[in-house]
Amino acid sequence: MPAQILDGKVISQEIIQQVRAQVDARVAGGKRAPALAVVLVGSDPASQVYVGNKKRQCANAGITSIAHDLPADTTEADLIALVQQLNADDAVDGILVQLPLPGHINAEKIIELIDPNKDVDGFHPYNIGRLALKMPLLRPCTPRGVMTLLEKTGIDLVGKDAVVVGASNIVGRPQALELLLARATVTVCHSKTRDLAEKVRNADVVVAGVGIPNFVKGEWIKPGAIVIDVGINRLDNGKLCGDVEFEAASQNAAWITPVPGGVGLMTVATLMQNTFDAAVKLNP
Ligand code: GUN
Repeated sequence: MPAQILDGKVISQEIIQQVRAQVDARVAGGKRAPALAVVLVGSDPASQVYVGNKKRQCANAGITSIAHDLPADTTEADLIALVQQLNADDAVDGILVQLPLPGHINAEKIIELIDPNKDVDGFHPYNIGRLALKMPLLRPCTPRGVMTLLEKTGIDLVGKDAVVVGASNIVGRPQALELLLARATVTVCHSKTRDLAEKVRNADVVVAGVGIPNFVKGEWIKPGAIVIDVGINRLDNGKLCGDVEFEAASQNAAWITPVPGGVGLMTVATLMQNTFDAAVKLNP
């Protein structure tokens, strides 16, 4: 039987509606709507699309988005000054600096400067450390969104073998921490991993985030496994495809996410949850 689809379109909309209801209740209680500052430096086309989606979903969730669109030649000092201003601004609950930043700006330095209580991306070392220590505050959006999808399967993750393909700071590493927090047995694979196929063949849960089209072969997927594809790759023909061979993997998996229409939408929905959570923490 082919896999059931974990539909990011439907599930992300559910989450945004949930946040909307929470925001409406908060506003009805006399508080202002949560506010997210969205900082974009330069005009990278993919980043412009992502930032546009974030602003649109803010509107759907009842969250105020405050755009800071800066030219590509913005100095590091100017960006630092902006982040410090946003940290100090009581009318701002969340700060998102879209990555990648231009080469002349040190992204790690900027991320570390964001107030961890407003770090709705969950990228600050403080927030990664909290996640590693089983006391998460703000959790990185994509891995948290993947956990929401996994919950929707109704399958208990305790003791399951999970394989994360990719070890990036944004996806693979925090994903491994999330799965560990859910008490799965976690293997993190990367470019130096030997016999990736054998690792994936043993996995009850596979999360792929490497950014290489069709990198994970469908025949590697264990019958009944859950397959989460974080990759969003544009092919020469203009089509989007994931990191997993979707059709072949669907023959083995019990559950699978499509690309597009899977994890990408969950990342933005989770950003709305994080912004609401940050607003409540800052102003209970
Ligand atoms: N660039 C690619 N993904 C992300 C993300 O989740 N957050 C930010 N800030 N930049 C990104």
